[in-house]
Amino acid sequence: MKNFTSIEDISDLKTMISKALSIKANPLAEPHKGKGKTIGLVFLNSSLRTRLSSQIAAQNLGLNVLILNASQEAWNLEFADGAVMNGGTVEHIKDAVEVLNQYCDIIAVRCFAGMQSKEDDVNESILSQFLKYAKVPVISLESATRHPLQSFADCITITENWTFDKSTMNRKPKVVLTWAPHIKPIAHAVANSFTEWMQKMEVDLVITNPEGYDLDPKFMKNTKVLHDQNEALKDADFVYVKNWSSFENYAQMPEIKENWMLTQEKLKLTNQARVMHCLPVRRNVELSDEVMDSENSIIYQQAKNRIFSAQTVFSEILDGLNSGK
Ligand code: CP
Repeated sequence: MKNFTSIEDISDLKTMISKALSIKANPLAEPHKGKGKTIGLVFLNSSLRTRLSSQIAAQNLGLNVLILNASQEAWNLEFADGAVMNGGTVEHIKDAVEVLNQYCDIIAVRCFAGMQSKEDDVNESILSQFLKYAKVPVISLESATRHPLQSFADCITITENWTFDKSTMNRKPKVVLTWAPHIKPIAHAVANSFTEWMQKMEVDLVITNPEGYDLDPKFMKNTKVLHDQNEALKDADFVYVKNWSSFENYAQMPEIKENWMLTQEKLKLTNQARVMHCLPVRRNVELSDEVMDSENSIIYQQAKNRIFSAQTVFSEILDGLNSGK
């Protein structure tokens, strides 16, 4: 594996999930794999889980870890080619990444959607510059359109909670990605990415969202979309709760009349579904306290699995570096 920015960078999802589960069973099995190598974790946006789980994963492999909370601690970055930098930006992305090349064997970066320009976000205007200037492998810690380490952890979590056997009639689980309310416009990365990864899993995926909130067709492909949440939730085995803003009216929040918050009442429609959310969650806005704190919730297990998705990806990247590929 050279870079990891989407599911396209892995060759076989089943094998990757098996590796992740082996790592979870024995996370300290390869404490010297990253010896003498350095990973730089660069955050242009806030984080709790990604920052800490990546740090734990890297340390489990013996990597040196540099963390740069760039939005607070580094110079204001300029992204425009040929810019006359006589304003608020102090360092060009080209120079910043060239310097990171000198210090790091792997660069991992978080760069959210700016939510100002659809074109910039769809074209990954920041991640693409890291990929352009990096001379070492690049890992996405969430970009404008995708959150692959989260989606990989979601796949691990669903695998742990579903068994193909007589009790499940050897059927595929029904997985529902449900839109949830929020107080401000939220990017599409988690929803896009979850959709993309679920399309490669043995699951029946249904997306439910209000009219005006359909995801980018590039990610939805032919996934079933229902605008009636109750109909979608019927007999679900897994319910993934997530807000996103409109893609069509980019980054806007078209008004909706129904209440889409996931409640215990709505969960009764499901097949005692396991409830998932990437966190952070706005309690009693996206889902109720009752749901969040119920036995149906596997949300903290999901968060824990962020360590093992990261460690599996770092391990694969190190295999490539150590073999000189
Ligand atoms: N789920 C997730 O990426 O959490 P953070 O934003 O806290 O890293």
